Amino acid sequence: MRPVTDHLPLLDEGGIGRLREALGSAGYTSGGVAARIGPAATAALRRNDLRLVLRATADRDPLATLIRLFVGGQTEPDAAVTAALPLAELLDAGILRRTEGGIRAAVDLEPYGEDWWVVSDLTGGPLAEDHVLGVGGASGTLAGATIRRPVGSALDLGTGCGVQALHLSTHAARVTATDVSERALRFAATTAALNGLDWELLQGDLTVPVAGRRFDLVVSNPPFVVGPGTTTHVYRDSGRPGDTVCAELAAVAPDLLTEGGTMHYLANWLHVAGQDWADRVAGWVAGTGLDAWIIQREVSDPVSYVRLWLSDAYEQSDPQRLAAWLDWFDVHKVEAVGFGLVTLRRAGHDDPVVRVEELRQAVDPPLGEQIAAWFDRQDWLRSAGSLRSHRYRTADGLQLHQEATVGPAGWAVDRQLLALTDGLRWSEEVDPLVVALVGGCDGTVPLDDQLTVLAAAHDVPVEQLAEVATPLVAHLVERGFLRIAS
Ligand SMILES: C[S@@+](CC[C@H](N)C(=O)[O-])C[C@H]1O[C@@H](n2cnc3c(N)ncnc32)[C@H](O)[C@@H]1O
Repeated sequence: MRPVTDHLPLLDEGGIGRLREALGSAGYTSGGVAARIGPAATAALRRNDLRLVLRATADRDPLATLIRLFVGGQTEPDAAVTAALPLAELLDAGILRRTEGGIRAAVDLEPYGEDWWVVSDLTGGPLAEDHVLGVGGASGTLAGATIRRPVGSALDLGTGCGVQALHLSTHAARVTATDVSERALRFAATTAALNGLDWELLQGDLTVPVAGRRFDLVVSNPPFVVGPGTTTHVYRDSGRPGDTVCAELAAVAPDLLTEGGTMHYLANWLHVAGQDWADRVAGWVAGTGLDAWIIQREVSDPVSYVRLWLSDAYEQSDPQRLAAWLDWFDVHKVEAVGFGLVTLRRAGHDDPVVRVEELRQAVDPPLGEQIAAWFDRQDWLRSAGSLRSHRYRTADGLQLHQEATVGPAGWAVDRQLLALTDGLRWSEEVDPLVVALVGGCDGTVPLDDQLTVLAAAHDVPVEQLAEVATPLVAHLVERGFLRIAS
């Protein structure tokens, strides 16, 4: 483990202060940039069309210069940059560089969130082996899926530019961030310092730098990309074959979490011929004693998958690499790759709940709130005693969709679906018993009374009905179709 002080920001304390002052006084924040360039230029920028941005920043006041340098990737005249930033200091620090015709950004300095700045490497051409990734789609997915409740200690494993640590700083008393890459830690240190935050930064492989320590919350957007286990880019490749790195994170989680602690991480997993992907992933948490909710959000075929990750690092023109990667998939009978989110909780029970399931539908953000509510419902189910003694009501906006065909005797219902219209937006096929049961859940009578009425109506013994209905109710509560009224 390297000492914390090794991971110095790109600028000393005075330089950080001068840079922060320059960015702040120019109004270089997400809101400031959006207001300056306007919605049309913002939308065009998402399509890599810079024309409107350059038009909106033609008058080179400090904000315009910052936008042209860091958002537009332009070469700007010395005089304009000197008016906006401490030029000599930023050239020395490697944040700006001199080029023919003026000054360009040497790193990305992105306004993020309400009033944060994030430092990362530039993109736009082949990426270096130690490229430090900026805030991307996966960063946003993990940030959105994290439960944002106050905690004492939080760990960001594989911090990169420090984006997850920034979010953790909003609700954790102490933030530790680790990375195997020295360059990433220097960038994270710069992000922290620029935002006036104090993180413990440690270097090393996965949990090695925090061995023997526990955290209330752990988040990780690890180098989850699956393949032969060769490392060409540290942000993407773990150096472990297949999906080993994600299995390893599950295995270390029990020793990393405090009692009641939660870990969220993004993961990829292999779909291997003849093996159920969900069984494979459930195997990662078997024996850990942790509650686990693992959701598969996307599935990709091998060719699309490899092409995506090669182009992510601007490697698409390397047919040999493509072939080697696909050969590895063939040899290991990989038919597809799943992408999803793993949430683990150390609840200290002998009978942990492990669910591995598809959740491919769009859900209402932030996902973290839905995940917190899912674990709260598990707690309720665990402590509720007999489900028959409780009253239930249907979720707000719950809908029943019917598919029917018309025949000689009129309409015949073929399929009935319960559908949540918000939150996790589950939709699932149900049988007439569930339709009747759910229809009676108005919160006024215990499930036991509902079962008595239903049993009499269908002329079946109530105990026989209860045996079937109770696990169904547990499932409907877990997914949020039914809410607890008592
Ligand atoms: C996909 S990036 C995530 C960056 C950032 N946390 C985010 O959410 O955008 C993965 C990070 O993990 C780091 N990393 C790669 N291999 C690692 C390892 N074996 N142990 C710790 N960190 C590692 C990389 O340097 C990189 O910063």
